[in-house]
Amino acid sequence: MSMGTRFDNQTIIVTGAGSGIGKATTERLLDEGGRVIATDISPQRLEDLTASHPRAKLETLAGDICDETVIDGIVNLAGSHIDGLVNNAGITDGFLPNAEVDNATWDRVLAVNMTAVMKLSRAVLPIMLDAGKGSIVNVSSEAATRLAAGVAYTATKYAVIGITKNNAAFYTRKGVRTNAVLPGGVVTNIEAPFKSEYAMEVLGQAFSMAPAPASAEQLAAAITWLLSDDSANVSGSVVNSDGGWSTL
Ligand SMILES: NC(=O)c1ccc[n+]([C@@H]2O[C@H](COP(=O)([O-])OP(=O)(O)OC[C@H]3O[C@@H](n4cnc5c(N)ncnc54)[C@H](O)[C@@H]3O)[C@@H](O)[C@H]2O)c1
Repeated sequence: MSMGTRFDNQTIIVTGAGSGIGKATTERLLDEGGRVIATDISPQRLEDLTASHPRAKLETLAGDICDETVIDGIVNLAGSHIDGLVNNAGITDGFLPNAEVDNATWDRVLAVNMTAVMKLSRAVLPIMLDAGKGSIVNVSSEAATRLAAGVAYTATKYAVIGITKNNAAFYTRKGVRTNAVLPGGVVTNIEAPFKSEYAMEVLGQAFSMAPAPASAEQLAAAITWLLSDDSANVSGSVVNSDGGWSTL
């Protein structure tokens, strides 16, 4: 792996860092000189990540991103200087349409995919605003552009774009940029079982248009670009990394 320097002397928080897009982003940041605060609900995945990067500037904290004590712990571990935040942790919703969704699925998907994005950003923003510099990248989804999930997941991924644009509007003038990445299909460990027969029937047709799935490393490339000074003039953008799916 070639080493870069884009993130020398920078501290970046990555949520959902134990797998898939978050793991690939963490590894790219480490390769390019960054110090990464990697957080995930799975202690085992974080242990594995640490074991495969023994000399890296990698610090981990295991816990549920919905838990405010975990959010405080992440920010404390990062310290008084935070350059970047990647709100990546996310879960699916069983593809349940509105008539079939249960309250537990609705509440949990909104908590992880939407509310935690606001809460961790709320904890990190004052530090970035004090420094007059920072970059936040929120991972939304193709599901914010078309039928690709159930009602809960879809609602959250639209909401992530709303959070992104509102933060960009308020804080870009203060030096803190916020952008969203919209992955199409990506090969990761995300679990996406169909819990609705009706959704399977309808989505089968919708998914037939989708390009081949991308790699997590391809998403990490977009996310790290948005974190880096290479995208210094980019804020409030919604970056599709979906093999062109959004045009079909
Ligand atoms: N894989 C895809 O096709 C795809 C497409 C569009 C968007 N996305 C989005 O990309 C993001 C990353 O997904 P992925 O595909 O890499 O999935 P993944 O399941 O491989 O990785 C997500 C990680 O987040 C962690 N996580 C889940 N809930 C958590 C919580 N409450 N607190 C802390 N950590 C938690 C998991 O343990 C896991 O390690 C998600 O927001 C997902 O919605 C994925």
